[in-house]
Amino acid sequence: MVESPERIIQPENHPDDRNDMALRPHSLDEMIGQTQIKENLRILIAAARRRTEPLDHVLFYGPPGLGKTTLAHILANEMSVNIKITAGPAVERAGDLAAILTNLHAGDILFIDEIHRLGRAIEEILYPAMEDYALDIIIGKGPSAKSLRMRLPHFTVIGATTRLALVSSPLRARFGAVYRLDYYDLPAMREIVERAAVKLNVTVDEDGVEEVARRARGTPRVALRLLRRVRDFAQVKADGHVSRIVAGEALNLMNVDLLGLDEVDRRVMMTIIEKYNGGPVGLNTIAASISEEPDTIMDVVEPYLLQLGFLDRTPQGRVATRAAYEHFGVFFPETNQPRLI
Ligand SMILES: Nc1ncnc2c1ncn2[C@@H]1O[C@H](COP(=O)(O)OP(=O)(O)OP(=O)(O)O)[C@@H](O)[C@H]1O
Ligand SMILES: [Mg+2]
Repeated sequence: MVESPERIIQPENHPDDRNDMALRPHSLDEMIGQTQIKENLRILIAAARRRTEPLDHVLFYGPPGLGKTTLAHILANEMSVNIKITAGPAVERAGDLAAILTNLHAGDILFIDEIHRLGRAIEEILYPAMEDYALDIIIGKGPSAKSLRMRLPHFTVIGATTRLALVSSPLRARFGAVYRLDYYDLPAMREIVERAAVKLNVTVDEDGVEEVARRARGTPRVALRLLRRVRDFAQVKADGHVSRIVAGEALNLMNVDLLGLDEVDRRVMMTIIEKYNGGPVGLNTIAASISEEPDTIMDVVEPYLLQLGFLDRTPQGRVATRAAYEHFGVFFPETNQPRLI
């Protein structure tokens, strides 16, 4: 596969993220946006505290970079408990999970990122652990095999996923609370950029903040990355101060358009519009045309295009909308009307 161009929407653990801990909100009060989720979490926390019980199991889902991992850490802080971190693909064998579970202390949070990628056999160990705080161990093989039930401390699982549909329903059912994180609105994005600018020690005009906030596709992670690059640009090409013009030039240079769409978004849309005449076209066909993984398109590219109303998912495949034709400037020259199917 062709190496895809560097994206502003990188998965987690991108080198940029190493510095992100300093920018991460540590309490619900510090966290901007997601008002309804925060309100629900406050109640969840207060109720658990009042009963002196651990938190109920919580599942966060939604597109990358919106704060799922951040919220897991915030919950641990707010409850003053330890957080152990793992991820679906990291738990390969039943023994791996058993080792994690038996090392937990009462009240601890076990954060399982990419929980949709847990194997079926592993999930089955998790069910009694979440429900009854029990670990069933099979000793021996064949007819003499015995099952032993070990008691576990009362702990909390926080799961995170970009793909709720891939979380099996028995697993989903074991979470007491399930929250969907949505893209942030513009005022929230402005505030995120403003606060990050203070922490990153960069001076930004109100207009500069607006420019970065608008082009960050409603995603805090993207806002932080854009701001860092804009800061570099301002330091190298200007006097270090970020005005609207400096921000705009830096972002244009990064090929991030006015809506925050980057090269991969454009290639996906232009494939549908130009090569497949607006669609419908299947996900795998699009992926093959631009040498991208279907999973990346589905997890990272499509949610924002759907949110913008540029894309429709139909049973026959993906279809480009009028808004997409207008944004990408694909018109019939004679009528100056968007070229529609
Ligand atoms: N509400 C917020 N206010 C300020 N910064 C935020 C907020 N939400 C997220 N961030 C910042 O955005 C970055 C990405 O957030 P986080 O890692 O929690 O996303 P995620 O949903 O776990 O993404 P992924 O699906 O890729 O794991 C973090 O560096 C965090 O500091
Ligand atoms: Mg995460």
